[in-house]
Amino acid sequence: MAENVKIVYEGKTYEFPIIVGSEGEKGIDISKLRQITGLITLDPGYANTGSCTSSITFMDGEKGILRYRGIPVEQLAEHSSFIETAYLLINGRLPTREELDHVSALFNDNSLVHEDMQIFYQNFPRGSHPMGILSSMVNALRSFYPELQTIEEEINITVIRLLSKVRTMAAMSYRISRGHKVVYPRPDLKYCANFLNMMFDTPVKPYQVDDILEKALNVFWILHADHEQNCSTSAVRLVGSGRVNLYAAISAGIAALWGPLHGGANQAVIEMLTDIQKDGGNYMRAVARAKDKKDPFRLMGFGHRVYKAYDPRARIMKKMCHRILDKLSFDDPLLDLAKELEEVALKDDYFIDHNLYPNVDFYSGIVLRAMGIPTNMFTVMFAIGRFPGWIAQWKECSDDPNWRLGRPRQIYIGPEKKQYIPIDQR
Ligand code: ACO
Repeated sequence: MAENVKIVYEGKTYEFPIIVGSEGEKGIDISKLRQITGLITLDPGYANTGSCTSSITFMDGEKGILRYRGIPVEQLAEHSSFIETAYLLINGRLPTREELDHVSALFNDNSLVHEDMQIFYQNFPRGSHPMGILSSMVNALRSFYPELQTIEEEINITVIRLLSKVRTMAAMSYRISRGHKVVYPRPDLKYCANFLNMMFDTPVKPYQVDDILEKALNVFWILHADHEQNCSTSAVRLVGSGRVNLYAAISAGIAALWGPLHGGANQAVIEMLTDIQKDGGNYMRAVARAKDKKDPFRLMGFGHRVYKAYDPRARIMKKMCHRILDKLSFDDPLLDLAKELEEVALKDDYFIDHNLYPNVDFYSGIVLRAMGIPTNMFTVMFAIGRFPGWIAQWKECSDDPNWRLGRPRQIYIGPEKKQYIPIDQR
């Protein structure tokens, strides 16, 4: 029997339907609330607000579950590639071998970046953050490829372009920032190997893609590929709801991801661990500061809006750290520090009471360091991985004939009506 929720307001009872998701999650459908009661809801940070129904990603924060289109992320990290996972997210099902080969061929055809774009890259001031550059350049793609996105085929090619070019653009920004010549994509290399080669190949020392690093990058990007209605994805949906082009919507997602409370946390974690190292490895001081309410310091890479258990991505990332470092016989003191910090925090009452566990960003920086990725590129790495999710979420909206303009309300608490006073009478 359909359930309802009753709201009693000014002596009248109003009923609102309960909507039940495929995994049993329940929510009150209040889409008619204002129309019939005159009320709105107030939910800062949207912690209790479902902004949409979606069939892309399921996560259960209490149980530490994450699935893309129903498939546990652990299985994808073990067996899939980033491109196959991207296909799954965007198209709703795993590809056949022919479909995957076709997509790979399209990626090769669309991997080059317009030569005129290099002028932009070269004119960003030295020291510009790569996230700012990436966001601007993705937005600029629209000027280079101004087709309308009303036809399905055009949307599909825009999606391919974005996914393929983003790795070229990211590698270009790194090379140019170092004053090095740009390395072009190679059709004989797969997606992740191609990216590593564009980053690190030099005429002096040709880059040999190591299998373990290629696998690690696939896993890293799979783990970042989608995470339902987080800050940057909500930005993509909201900005997209104005029917802006896909490039602009993704560019908004990149900008949102940049912040240290969101994707920028992977850079912030390494900076925090480095500071602790400089402080003689005194991680107890960091734990004490994180607990001190008068100190704005937070343990970066800890805590999550939805996960109130161990983030399943962090568990896989931690294992990957060990695999890479063992295989490369690379000893990273920051990994030891991170493990000690985690151990202390997980036993500490403050962290237990607040349900604070390591999130995906806690160990991901150590994986990226082992690959040779510079710290200021970490959030760009996250962004590349999140492209399939942003695209899938945008597509879900644009396929919905009832996609409404995103436009929250507010409770105004400013001054009541008053008269304008001319400047010489103030
Ligand atoms: N260190 C210390 N205390 C913390 C931390 C932390 N990392 N995270 C949350 N808390 C505390 C808060 O101080 C607050 O305490 P109080 O209730 O006693 O005042 C309580 O836990 C709840 O914190 P909120 O900020 O309200 O929780 P919210 O769900 O809004 O925040 C967030 C989630 C932003 C991720 C937070 O945990 C944080 O700042 N973490 C550090 C940054 C980080 O790692 N971000 C990456 C998140 S994953 C991602 O976006 C990819």
